[in-house]
Amino acid sequence: MNRAEHWESVYATKPDAELSWYQQQPEVSLRLIRELASNPHGVVDIGGGQSALAPALVDLGIPRVVVLDVSPSAIRRGRERAGASADRIEWIAGDVLRRREYGDVDCWHDRAVFHFLTDAEERASYVDAAARAIPTGGHAVIGAFAMSGPERCSGLEVRRYDAGLLASEFAGAFVLHRSFTETHMTPWGKGQDFIYTVLERR
Ligand SMILES: C[S@@+](CC[C@H](N)C(=O)[O-])C[C@H]1O[C@@H](n2cnc3c(N)ncnc32)[C@H](O)[C@@H]1O
Repeated sequence: MNRAEHWESVYATKPDAELSWYQQQPEVSLRLIRELASNPHGVVDIGGGQSALAPALVDLGIPRVVVLDVSPSAIRRGRERAGASADRIEWIAGDVLRRREYGDVDCWHDRAVFHFLTDAEERASYVDAAARAIPTGGHAVIGAFAMSGPERCSGLEVRRYDAGLLASEFAGAFVLHRSFTETHMTPWGKGQDFIYTVLERR
């Protein structure tokens, strides 16, 4: 099964209550984007198809909000979740490793996508995509499983990070601005440790 097929099957078979990453409100992401990435004018949320982040960013008044997800079903669920805000969001079905064009965005957000990239070439391709999308002075907010976090998610192996290791992956184009740790509670009450970095485009 390839990546798109894997995620399609997840969203086709699991309700929100069975998605370990599900959040009612993405509070940490919102806070980091608002406070540390200095109120961006355009945000792209990588792998945010089903997330509540995009409509929350619209509510914050961010003029341009783009969502990319490899799963069309995730996007369909996200559109429904976004309600009246859905038409103010640009939804793109695609793989972050293949896409290089996002229009005018100055903040790149990713919670729990980069950590699936266990292949170094794929990680380099991902960083190249972020570097091309974000202009100098813009930001990338990357949330990944911490070293004390789970070793797998959704049946897939993940790579775990601390702030230094995560920043080193992006060091060719971004510098570490801040980092933040969070224990996310799954819908069934299990804690998962995350590390977030706010990186500034050089
Ligand atoms: C673990 S979920 C996290 C969802 C969301 N970011 C959140 O925090 O609620 C990973 C998401 O990334 C999407 N995804 C996985 N690999 C991707 C890729 N290479 N390009 C774009 N989206 C991807 C999946 O379809 C899924 O929606």
